[in-house]
Amino acid sequence: MAQVMRAAVLPEPGKPLIIKEVAVPEPGPTQMLIKVLYASVNHRDVWIQKGLYPGIRRGVILGSDCVGIVEKVGSEVDSAWVGKKVIVNPGLEWGPSREVQSPSFHILGNPTDGTFAEYVVVPAENVYQPPLHLSDEEAAVLPLAGVTAYRALFYRGRPQQGNTILITGIGGGVALMALKMATTITDKIIVTSSSLQKIDRALELGATDGYLYTHDDWHKKIIQKWGGVDVVIDGASGPNIPQIIDILNPGGRLVIYGQTAGKIPQLSTAKVFWRHLNILGSTMGSPSDFEEMLELWNAHKLKPVIDRLYSLDEINEAFEWMDNAKQFGKIIIKI
Ligand SMILES: NC(=O)c1ccc[n+]([C@@H]2O[C@H](COP(=O)([O-])OP(=O)(O)OC[C@H]3O[C@@H](n4cnc5c(N)ncnc54)[C@H](OP(=O)(O)O)[C@@H]3O)[C@@H](O)[C@H]2O)c1
Repeated sequence: MAQVMRAAVLPEPGKPLIIKEVAVPEPGPTQMLIKVLYASVNHRDVWIQKGLYPGIRRGVILGSDCVGIVEKVGSEVDSAWVGKKVIVNPGLEWGPSREVQSPSFHILGNPTDGTFAEYVVVPAENVYQPPLHLSDEEAAVLPLAGVTAYRALFYRGRPQQGNTILITGIGGGVALMALKMATTITDKIIVTSSSLQKIDRALELGATDGYLYTHDDWHKKIIQKWGGVDVVIDGASGPNIPQIIDILNPGGRLVIYGQTAGKIPQLSTAKVFWRHLNILGSTMGSPSDFEEMLELWNAHKLKPVIDRLYSLDEINEAFEWMDNAKQFGKIIIKI
């Protein structure tokens, strides 16, 4: 009889997740079976649960991040991995180019079954040793947000020595990862948030200055004090993008990795071409981005910001917490 495990399954888009028993998956020849210890929530999981994401598979097990122990490996995988503690790069089949992902790229946790379960099967090539200075909980939150922030900041943003960096919506999981990593290269980091408390906490973590994006003149205050900024890392899109264009220095780079605040209403392209601005998209990251991200966290002994921990049974509450933008940092699920 097949072994069973507990998993958080999406019955259909828009419905709450249900915890049920499903068969433990079998690793294929180049895969590993991982016993999940902790997973973490990304906004992607919430978008999928609400039905606001393309290609949702009914009955999928969500979850892109985890730390766990290798339980079993496929016939072509080195058996020395069995028993090792690991984290997983959730970007599957990125492809050969670092510039852009291949058409077959997809993310662990839809359509492939993910980490909100006692076991998950992943390609062996996506498995890495977690940074040793991190606890299991801390390691679990690093993969998706860490690689997204790394690529957006370093590979796409390409900040130069002495640049001023703006990170928007600092309460977000990716934004806080970007803040942590930005502190390794500059002491001029501006953040925005909807909350003064979140700004204060970001200042404690190494941000230099902070503004409420909910105030109309937030961008004017930045221009007044800083002149402008060189690199912007933004996961919100929405109505604040025209203000961001206003505060970018000539030649500046705006990197967009998400659209939590929706579509961009109107944009003065004259400002973009006259000031040689660069508007860049960024999604997750290549295997090289993931490896460089881990090297950076190891070299600087960086620690992620954890918001709170839920059990697998409380997963819908965890989603609600994120949906209401209550969090500051990453939300963990203990499996
Ligand atoms: N392209 C990719 O590969 C990729 C990867 C990861 C995430 N994403 C996307 O990026 C976004 C953030 O992801 P996440 O996991 O970090 O989500 P998250 O932890 O839920 O963060 C969302 C944050 O967005 C901020 N926000 C909301 N409205 C804003 C606005 N008008 N201006 C500036 N900030 C605003 C809020 O910050 P405050 O609480 O400080 O107000 C909120 O905490 C999501 O849309 C997600 O789907 C994309």
